[in-house]
Amino acid sequence: MVVMACMGIAACLHQPPISPEELIVGNGKGNGGNNNTGVPCDSSLVYFNQQVLPILVSNCAVPGCHNLPTDDNDWLQITSYTSLMNSGIVQDGELMEVLTEDDPDDIMPRPPADPLNPDEIALIALWIQQGAQDLNCDSYAGGCDTTDVTYAADIQPLVALKCQGCHSGGSPQGGLNFTAWSALNTVAMDGRLEGALNHQTGYAAMPPNGGWLPQCEIDMISVWIQQGAPQN
Ligand code: HEC
Repeated sequence: MVVMACMGIAACLHQPPISPEELIVGNGKGNGGNNNTGVPCDSSLVYFNQQVLPILVSNCAVPGCHNLPTDDNDWLQITSYTSLMNSGIVQDGELMEVLTEDDPDDIMPRPPADPLNPDEIALIALWIQQGAQDLNCDSYAGGCDTTDVTYAADIQPLVALKCQGCHSGGSPQGGLNFTAWSALNTVAMDGRLEGALNHQTGYAAMPPNGGWLPQCEIDMISVWIQQGAPQN
């Protein structure tokens, strides 16, 4: 209710609806939220690092778009909480405006990239309503279960959320379109997937821009690879 009564987002930011003691700061492992905080996620809160940033990185921090200071759109890098908030687009409403725009010349991501889906847009709107905070939680505080890992239940959903913004469509990044299982299987079996996720020398670190998958997700992918990366 406090949030709804605010005149604007900037005003809200000075009155966080969540007390500072509850804020969990980053864990030093980059913007992917490698969840070593041990603090369980509260389902009533939207966690920027675990829920919002992966969507933004995958759809907006695409090379040539909002990725590097050298990109055409160099005033706006959407690669971390700091860079996003420094741009001011959350506070002045522009982020929500471009995400929900009807005009193909103004909507983001730009066609031919797909717009964000309604669930993603609703999640980002709720994050802003809750004060647009830099929250972290441990999605795997209850433990990491790597038994019975399957492509359909575990691997495909996480790749869809965190990788496919860049790795899909007609000209996917790195020439890799992960909407097809076969492309993921190829990089799984030739070592590139684990090399990229573990930021090993000689591989392009994934997700880019200093992000990490949570350790549990890296472990699940490793288990799946050991089984031959099947389409199960
Ligand atoms: C913001 C865009 C972006 C996102 C998100 C992204 N990638 Fe990439 N990916 C790239 C680019 C660009 C390359 C090519 C890098 C290069 O060749 O230097 C690439 C290359 C790769 C490669 C080949 C690495 C190599 O060294 O040959 C793998 C494997 C890969 N990505 C996996 C993933 C996975 C898994 C995810 C999700 C966890 C992911 N990527 C998320 C942009 C992205």
